Amino acid sequence: MPSKRSLETFYEPNLRLTQAHGLLGYNAGYAEVRGRDSFDQHQKNLVWRLLGDVHIGPESTVLDVGCGVGGPSGWIFDRYRPGRLIGIEYCSTSVRAAEQRWSGTPERPIFLQGDAQHLPLPDESVDVIFNLESALHYADKRRFISECMRILKPGGTLCLGDITTQYKRLFVALGILNIVSSQFSTHARLWSFEDYMSAFKALGLRVLRHEEVARQAADSLFEGLTEVSRVGWNNARGYRGRYFYLRFMEKLLRHEWLAYDLFAVSKR
Ligand SMILES: C[S@@+](CC[C@H](N)C(=O)[O-])C[C@H]1O[C@@H](n2cnc3c(N)ncnc32)[C@H](O)[C@@H]1O
Repeated sequence: MPSKRSLETFYEPNLRLTQAHGLLGYNAGYAEVRGRDSFDQHQKNLVWRLLGDVHIGPESTVLDVGCGVGGPSGWIFDRYRPGRLIGIEYCSTSVRAAEQRWSGTPERPIFLQGDAQHLPLPDESVDVIFNLESALHYADKRRFISECMRILKPGGTLCLGDITTQYKRLFVALGILNIVSSQFSTHARLWSFEDYMSAFKALGLRVLRHEEVARQAADSLFEGLTEVSRVGWNNARGYRGRYFYLRFMEKLLRHEWLAYDLFAVSKR
């Protein structure tokens, strides 16, 4: 796992951009139709797409692992009003931003600093785990999925959306960018679709649903970047580098070097 400091350095431009542009998510988003919705709405669309028809009610405990600045946690909380919603995030800077956003609100998600590979929850205590565009960073994804198995109640659901690739060797080579901590050190360790399917099988999870949404994620990113450029980058001074990084990611998704897989799996 990268050090906390190093991951915070990578996410600093995202943090500044979300703050400067009133955004609440760090994810690529989902544009069903081009030109219809704002980037903020695309990010919400991706959350609803990943959750699908999963049941969340007042009796449910929901965990958002890798919750970023807490946008998706908040949207889920507002829509479903679960009994408990806990967001876990590795970067303290993002946890603080999530806390600030909700300060003074009595009914709200709880945000904790923690590592997805060592979830600080008791066995069989969670109904739904939500994990969006975060697992790409985990050095040991099997350990994360085993942790999900441990804390999910029987019949509970893991909704996992991640960027994957069939070209793992190429992306391992790009790992050279991680040697020096910078805003380009993604610390990504990508899996393929097949890696996920075999891990789910090996760990005894049942696949309820799968969808690949790279085209919609690329369209959303394209429009999001256009939106940010239109408003101007002045408030996010010095962070233009993130624009080119995200443009590159958009191209990789569009030309199928990267895929964007959404899974819903359940514990038997
Ligand atoms: C692309 S962002 C997505 C954030 C959020 N899910 C969203 O959709 O807005 C990935 C997040 O995962 C967090 N993350 C990376 N490794 C983590 C780990 N081991 N445990 C918890 N969070 C982690 C990052 O700090 C980052 O905030």
